[in-house]
Amino acid sequence: MAIIAPSVLAADFANLQRDSEMLNRSEADWFHIDVMDGVFVPNISFGMPVIKAIKKHAKKTMDVHLMIVQPERYIKEFKAVGADILTVHYEASTHLHRTLQAIKAEGMQAGVALNPHTNVNVLEDTIEDIDLVCMMSVNPGFGGQKFIERTYEKVRQLRKMIDDRGASTKIEIDGGVTTANAKQLIEAGADVLVAGSFVFNSEDPEATIAELKAI
Ligand code: DX5
Ligand code: ZN
Repeated sequence: MAIIAPSVLAADFANLQRDSEMLNRSEADWFHIDVMDGVFVPNISFGMPVIKAIKKHAKKTMDVHLMIVQPERYIKEFKAVGADILTVHYEASTHLHRTLQAIKAEGMQAGVALNPHTNVNVLEDTIEDIDLVCMMSVNPGFGGQKFIERTYEKVRQLRKMIDDRGASTKIEIDGGVTTANAKQLIEAGADVLVAGSFVFNSEDPEATIAELKAI
């Protein structure tokens, strides 16, 4: 059974308390929180004050995905507003190893996200230091995009790297996840499934989460 992490990006921002309580009641395991800066990605979502507001109601792990340049500048700030897992982009990190140690030093789990064009081999020298790899299955910046099929092969390659090295790194898939591709992703080696629009645009988000969890 995979860890299910609904993306709050697709929630109703005027009803974050209601939607957070729905996630608490549901079979969701984590809250996936997408931070976008309008520089690393061509969209701006929300920052610390909104995460703090969600945290007031959220009773589950806060999985914070930073789509921002120079993410190392804000590690303490994201810890302070409630992040449990802090994921930075490989493409935005000049000193990735140092950044991972700094995240862990704050008592958070450290994640690295890979854009669709980034080969998994770039993690060969840091995989043992990474708690979570967030494999982007769409180009980051927006919810509701089409899943990129090449992702399955990348997941298989990464799974092999992790297993060969005896690492305990989790593989998270982010973008375009639905009940139509979840099974194949888990078979390829995914541990965590992020789903935004598929959950929140469905008629019964709680039931949709249960459907994903049952796969
Ligand atoms: C994309 C974000 C995703 C997004 C997923 O940049 O990182 O987490 O919210 O949304 P869906 O599931 O709609 O593709
Ligand atoms: Zn995300």
